[in-house]
Amino acid sequence: MSIQRSALIIAAAQGIGLATAKRMAASGYSLTLMDINGAKLEHEAELLREAGTRVETVVGDALDSDTLRGAVERTTGAFGRLDALACIAGGSGGIPMHQVDEIPPEQWMKVLLLNINSVYLACHHAVPVMRDQKYGRICCLSSTVAKGRLGPIGTMGARLPYATAKAGLIGFVKQLSKDVGIHGITANAVLPWLTIGEPGTTVRETFLKLPQDYKDKTLAMSPQGRPIEAEGVAAAIAFLLSEEAGYVSGVELPVDGGVLN
Ligand SMILES: NC(=O)c1ccc[n+]([C@@H]2O[C@H](COP(=O)([O-])OP(=O)(O)OC[C@H]3O[C@@H](n4cnc5c(N)ncnc54)[C@H](O)[C@@H]3O)[C@@H](O)[C@H]2O)c1
Repeated sequence: MSIQRSALIIAAAQGIGLATAKRMAASGYSLTLMDINGAKLEHEAELLREAGTRVETVVGDALDSDTLRGAVERTTGAFGRLDALACIAGGSGGIPMHQVDEIPPEQWMKVLLLNINSVYLACHHAVPVMRDQKYGRICCLSSTVAKGRLGPIGTMGARLPYATAKAGLIGFVKQLSKDVGIHGITANAVLPWLTIGEPGTTVRETFLKLPQDYKDKTLAMSPQGRPIEAEGVAAAIAFLLSEEAGYVSGVELPVDGGVLN
């Protein structure tokens, strides 16, 4: 890197967010890590510091505008700039819900808010800093479910609002990339398929508890016959956040072993 760059990673305490933090640290970035799970976040941040990375932490909710403003200010205060933003907070909620008439309005809104508003709020506070720098990289987490998925809901909770929200994020980055490109800012989305993080992560534990025949049927959907590891998704995110990816913008990048193709 030509200059010391910094990244803000939202939802960094575990899973894809944590793998992204480790990957960006290995690429030499200074980091601000944010998550609602303060104990796990501080633990992981300390390990990264011991390995030589400069790490700030912000504990809070990705749906709270003041917390996100604070995370951006913490990054610029500590490192002088904010080069890369990974918006990773999201999910479908823990309760399996299939048909549209089974999904209560409050659960519908909860899933839409977590997946979409968290990204909007982070960008709302980060883009002015990136615009002033005339440089920025933004990546958010969509999903292959944005294209719809046949069959039972598997590791997901409320699939319909989840698919709706993740499809919305594709529109978000396509429009944002056009709005901010002139300022040297890119915006992209990655679309992972079933992704397994370290022990204790949500999707991993849910997947392991599925009946064997259902696990087999799920894996048979993938040309590679295996889930993705969080590090594989993190590698794609790190590329989209890199200096070298400056001409890659408005892209929806599947990280799915060929499931969508
Ligand atoms: N794992 C998969 O199979 C998969 C596939 C496609 C897309 N995704 C998307 O990738 C992202 C990460 O998924 P994961 O499986 O690594 O998740 P995970 O559940 O393992 O980790 C999520 C992290 O987000 C934090 N978090 C949750 N709500 C928050 C909030 N309101 N504010 C701040 N932090 C919050 C949690 O504390 C946790 O550290 C999500 O957006 C998810 O929808 C995951």
